[in-house]
Amino acid sequence: MIEIHNVHKAFGSLKVIRGVDLEIKKGEVLCLIGASGSGKSTLLQCVNGLEPIQQGEIQVDGISVHAKDTNLNKLRQKLGIVFQQYNAFPHLTALENVALAPRVVKRISKAEARALASKHLKHVGLGDKEDVFPSRLSGGQQQRLAIARALAMEPSYMLFDEVTSALDPELVGEVLDTLRMLKSEGMTMVVVTHDIVFARETGDRIAFFKDGRICEVGEAWQVVNAPREEHTRQFLKRVLA
Ligand SMILES: Nc1ncnc2c1ncn2[C@@H]1O[C@H](COP(=O)(O)OP(=O)(O)O)[C@@H](O)[C@H]1O
Ligand SMILES: [Mg+2]
Repeated sequence: MIEIHNVHKAFGSLKVIRGVDLEIKKGEVLCLIGASGSGKSTLLQCVNGLEPIQQGEIQVDGISVHAKDTNLNKLRQKLGIVFQQYNAFPHLTALENVALAPRVVKRISKAEARALASKHLKHVGLGDKEDVFPSRLSGGQQQRLAIARALAMEPSYMLFDEVTSALDPELVGEVLDTLRMLKSEGMTMVVVTHDIVFARETGDRIAFFKDGRICEVGEAWQVVNAPREEHTRQFLKRVLA
């Protein structure tokens, strides 16, 4: 479980997260929506311990992310994160890209890491691309490679930050299908997305972010079809227009 309690985060004098409370339960898919600049990516970075916070607490499986004695490297193995654009190592094949982190971090043998990488490439539908270099993959395939790379660490949670935003429209579907597959397998996920239809169909809950606060959170269909807050209604009207 991921527990976010009264988190405040500022960059200098710019208050970006202003008192967020949120719980993500095991097996849940939570979609985060909201205008650009509202603090969604920053929140994910705080959950992953990449950004310090000024107030509040985030716990992942009971471990306090920002406590001084927390082993962040170990904690981050629980959290797979995939961004808008994935810069794979260009001189490594797809298989080598996926095998790299498990080999280094989990200290497993080269053969074990390659077997693990092979399994996860197959999982995201890239079983036939093991020996291909990233530059030869389409944008959608590169994003699936990024997902395989995160999965190879066998995380308990997956965090996705606008993973389809940089893709040509015809490549979005294959990446969203991969997220749907992970959901069907019971993966716990936090998905930052502009795709309201995807959020409604695939999210268990949706949290609408506005100016560093959660303006509204609820069951996915409710937030989209029957928002309680006027701000949510206005946002949806803009993005669905
Ligand atoms: N490293 C940083 N230093 C200073 N300001 C930042 C940094 N990262 C993000 N910001 C600012 O924080 C605000 C929230 O950004 P972000 O979390 O990326 O929003 P979102 O993901 O919702 O678009 C923006 O005003 C952004 O410019
Ligand atoms: Mg962002």
